[in-house]
Amino acid sequence: MINGNKVLFSGMQATGNLTLGNYLGALKNWVSLADEYECYYSVVDMHSITVRQDPAVLRKRARALLTLYIAAGIDPEKNCLYYQSHVSGHAELAWILNCFTYMGELNRMTQFKDKAAKHADNINAGLFTYPVLMAADILLYQADVVPVGIDQMQHLELTRDIAQRFNAIYGDVFTVPQAYVGKVGAKIMSLQDPAKKMSKSDENPNASIYLMDDADTIRRKCKRAVTDSEGIILYRDEQPGVKNLLDIYCACTGKAPEEAVKEFEGCGYGQLKEAVGDAVVGVLEPLQTRFKELEKDKAYIDTIIKNNAERAAYTASKTLRKVQKKVGFPERVR
Ligand code: TRP
Repeated sequence: MINGNKVLFSGMQATGNLTLGNYLGALKNWVSLADEYECYYSVVDMHSITVRQDPAVLRKRARALLTLYIAAGIDPEKNCLYYQSHVSGHAELAWILNCFTYMGELNRMTQFKDKAAKHADNINAGLFTYPVLMAADILLYQADVVPVGIDQMQHLELTRDIAQRFNAIYGDVFTVPQAYVGKVGAKIMSLQDPAKKMSKSDENPNASIYLMDDADTIRRKCKRAVTDSEGIILYRDEQPGVKNLLDIYCACTGKAPEEAVKEFEGCGYGQLKEAVGDAVVGVLEPLQTRFKELEKDKAYIDTIIKNNAERAAYTASKTLRKVQKKVGFPERVR
């Protein structure tokens, strides 16, 4: 609890170009959660280097992501938007938590197994202990809730196990976080293969709508979206391509699926795709405009970065000092 509000933590990586899926599935919700919780939204750049990155590109993307948080409507005065690497407590707590996490637990993490298979030439220890750093992120701020997608649920479970284990030994040090359940974001699938999630790492550029795509590109990608040969617009699992287009349409317009189905009664897929393209452009164009304005205001963004990192560091250090004391590190001489 901070100021009587529950604490919420979440993070996003600045690798790859963010997609409409990231926006509708996560970022858009983060905005509304900001009213209800004391929110920490981190650009988790320390997680990003578990996979090789071009330093200049990572730096640029990290700044763009932080700017995007603000452009999306998250108020940087009320919420803490900061780079993970600016708060050294993340690394310090992660080390301690490493000593309370078992190899067997980390070995069971499905994301580690997937990433190890994908990056067989660089299965580094950071990739292995990635979930421990994530636990440190969350526990440092005594977060009550963490909005995560299904792919991160296993990591959150591990975080809870680590917190409970630590608390069982040393008393109530950590708040045991819960997954945020509530209005969940739309799950947006690939436009080229509706069985797969829309992903920023998809090799096929037509599979994803990127947040910075221009209007023509957005409309073209919608037009090329894979559908089926049923020729009827219904919201059902048997028509995953059409269902995905309806999900996108609804997430962009705030309409319910039944409403949308009614609206498109008697229409062909061409009309549906056109309407989806318009709806997406209607959401992304203002976001892009705001982003470009903010990007130009370097001094403003710099101030946010500095102030928020200081605020985050202050909260983080309080938890860290407590933990260090519990495990037996000598007190600092002032
Ligand atoms: N691992 C998360 C992802 O890739 C990002 C992340 C890092 C995160 N630390 C976090 C998410 C803490 C929630 C809470 O999506």
